[in-house]
Amino acid sequence: MSSLNIKGFSVLRLVTILTFAGLASLTIVYYVSSTPNNCEPKHYFGNYFGKNRSFSEDKPVLLLWVWPENYRFDFSDCKKFYNIDNCQLTDDRSLTSNADAIFIFHKAISWDLTNLPPSPRPPFQRWIWFHVESPTNTQKIPGLENLFNLTLSYRHDADIPVRLKLKTRKKPDEEFVIPKKDKLVCWIVSNNAPSTGVGTRNEYYRELSKYIQVNMFGKAYSNFLGYEEYYPTLASCKFYLSFENSVHKDYITEKINGPLAAGTVPVVLGPPRKNYENFVPGDAFIHVNDFPDAKSLAEYLLQLDKDEEAYRRFFNWRKYLSPTPHLIQQNQEFILPICTACDHIARHREYKEAHDIYEWYFN
Ligand SMILES: *[C@@H]1O[C@H](CO)[C@@H](O)[C@H](O)[C@H]1NC(C)=O
Ligand SMILES: *[C@@H]1O[C@H](CO)[C@@H](O)[C@H](O)[C@H]1NC(C)=O
Repeated sequence: MSSLNIKGFSVLRLVTILTFAGLASLTIVYYVSSTPNNCEPKHYFGNYFGKNRSFSEDKPVLLLWVWPENYRFDFSDCKKFYNIDNCQLTDDRSLTSNADAIFIFHKAISWDLTNLPPSPRPPFQRWIWFHVESPTNTQKIPGLENLFNLTLSYRHDADIPVRLKLKTRKKPDEEFVIPKKDKLVCWIVSNNAPSTGVGTRNEYYRELSKYIQVNMFGKAYSNFLGYEEYYPTLASCKFYLSFENSVHKDYITEKINGPLAAGTVPVVLGPPRKNYENFVPGDAFIHVNDFPDAKSLAEYLLQLDKDEEAYRRFFNWRKYLSPTPHLIQQNQEFILPICTACDHIARHREYKEAHDIYEWYFN
C-alpha cells in the first residue's frame, strides 16, 4: 500500500469517528437538557461542549449553593490565581442531583433550615460546611451538627483547612531589600463593632498608644485606604499591628499575611506564640505575649527603630521562604476557600461524615 492510500483510509476513518462522536454528544446534550433534575447521569456534559471542549467529564462537579455574601467572581480565577483547575465549579442549581459536592456557607443558612439543598441527597454527594468567622462570631444554627461530610475552615484540623502558606525555596534568596520606611507602627482597622470581640485588642491598643505613636488607617478611623494603597502603605511601616478581633486556636488571618508579604514586621495579638509558629517562623514576628505589658513592647519597638541590624534579622526567614500576597478586594474574599474546596474534592473521594461540628468548632 502506498502512503497515500494509508492516509486516505485514515482520513475516512477519522471522518466516520468524528461523525459518530458528534452524534453521540448531541444525544447526550439532548438527554441531559431534556431531563433536568434527573439523578441518573451523574456527570454533566451538556452545557460545556459548546463553551469549552477542554471540559473533562472526569472532573467532579462542585456546586456553590449560594455565593457567600454575594461576592461573585469568575470561576476561572481558581486557575488564574491558584492554578486550580481540577473540578467543575458551578452555581447552577439545576445540577444539584449531579453535584459531587455542594459548598454551603454557614451564615447563609436559615434558622429553619429550609434553604438547604434537597434531601435525601444522592449517595455520592458530599456537603461541605464552610465557615470563616471565629467561634466568638458564630451563631449555632440548630440542626447542622450531623448534616455535613466535610468542614472547611481556617482551623488546621478541618477536613479542608484553608490559609495562604509561606512557600519554601530551594535556592536561598539573598536579594530581599527591606522597603523604605517612613512610619514606625501602623494599624488598619475596618471592623470596630464591640460585639465581634474586639475589646481585648482595643484595650491593648489604647495602652500601647500611650507610649508609642500608631498610624491608624481604615473604615473605623475614617482614613480609608483604597485597595491599591494597601500593600504600599503596609510596606512603608516598620511594624504592623496584626491584632485579631478575637483570640482562638488557629485563628490567624490575612492580618499577619499582609505585613509578611509587604516586607513589614507583624506585631501579633491572637492565640499563643506556639500556635503562630505552626504557620510562620518564630523570628518573623513579635508577639504581644512576649512582653509583660504594652509599655515594655513599646520600648522594644522604639529600641528596634534605632537598631538596624536587629530589625533586619526579622527578615532572615525570607532567604528560604516566600510569602504570597492575599487578594484584597472585598469580592475576592472567598476565592481561596472555594478553589481549595474544588481542589480537595478532586483529590479526595473517600466516604466521610462530619459529626458534632459545633462541639469540634467551639471546643
Ligand atoms: C477553555 O479552556 C481553556 C484551557 O483550559 C481556557 O484557557 C479557556 O479560558 C476556557 N474557555 C472558557 C470559555 O471557559
Ligand atoms: C455524607 O454525610 C451524611 C450525613 O452524615 C451521610 O448520611 C452520607 O452518607 C455522607 N455521604 C458521603 C458520600 O460521604
